Amino acid sequence: MSAIQSKIKTFLDEIQNTEINDSTSLEAFRIRFLGSKNVLKPLFGELKNVPSEDKKSVGLQINALKDKAQALFDQYKEALSSQEEKSENIDFSRPGEPFEIGARHPISIIRNEIISIFERIGFGVSEGPEVEDDWHNFSALNFPEEHPARDMQDTFFVETGEREMALRTHTSSVQVRVMESSTPPIRTISPGRVYRNEAISARAHCFFHQVEGLYIDEEVSFADLKQTILYFAQEMFGKKTKIRLRPSYFPFTEPSAEVDVSCTICKGDGCNVCKHTGWLEILGCGMVDPEVLKASNIDPTKFSGFAFGMGIERIAQLKYRVNDLRMYSENDVRFLKQFKSAF
Ligand code: PHE
Repeated sequence: MSAIQSKIKTFLDEIQNTEINDSTSLEAFRIRFLGSKNVLKPLFGELKNVPSEDKKSVGLQINALKDKAQALFDQYKEALSSQEEKSENIDFSRPGEPFEIGARHPISIIRNEIISIFERIGFGVSEGPEVEDDWHNFSALNFPEEHPARDMQDTFFVETGEREMALRTHTSSVQVRVMESSTPPIRTISPGRVYRNEAISARAHCFFHQVEGLYIDEEVSFADLKQTILYFAQEMFGKKTKIRLRPSYFPFTEPSAEVDVSCTICKGDGCNVCKHTGWLEILGCGMVDPEVLKASNIDPTKFSGFAFGMGIERIAQLKYRVNDLRMYSENDVRFLKQFKSAF
């Protein structure tokens, strides 16, 4: 290889391998290969010593060197300036963009509030399965064989292959499980989702949420039940809230009652919400039937207890005045983000 060709090769290596990562190294590269006194210029002078048959190809090689240097220069320049542009656009002193914080679901807020109210008077929380057997959902709770609540109309039955199971229709099933696995005194509430085979409308849904409570000890009386419910109603709806108990029927309690609270809107004067009665129904309750205690191996001659159950959607409806049950399960973020709470 002639001297000039080995120079061309050395310069080509150098051009291709020069590290350019900032404007200083780019400028040094420009001066060395493209400036007015660049190192490639003398090569053209040396061309006159090249034998005439090689002149053309060597000349082309020197030109290619120049073009290569120019192309690399343009490429690096472009890359560096767009990098600078980007970093110039970042203002590190700017306050951060606020990002939206999710909201708790209204049913969760009310559930947590109910739990908190009962925890303050010594109730614990228990949970159980949503797919339940006949014993825990019905039989242990003193439902007669032919009780209409067992009908296909109300209960979703689940095919499991071995035995017939159902989606629990209330969380009383959890209380049976607690009675079976512990000894009195028992003070527990069971929040959870329950299912009933009903057509979906503003006032009914095929699933909803309950909190049911159970208190079993020696000498628990109806007065204890009434006072506990009054405490709950006043914590939930305000200190001036009154309650009224109406006789009712449940297979697992005797006597049984339905509880109304004085209307949260008109305070008892009569309005559209309470249909001018001054009262709003909030829960069912009663003294645990001795048969139910027996079924869970608790001695009814020694212990007595009370139980109550309420729908969380119902309490939420009264607190938030949401009259369409469907809204709670439609996941419309505009609806859901309106509820802010400490719970
Ligand atoms: N389990 C009843 C229901 O689902 C509510 C209830 C519970 C009533 C405890 C009385 C006592 O409707």
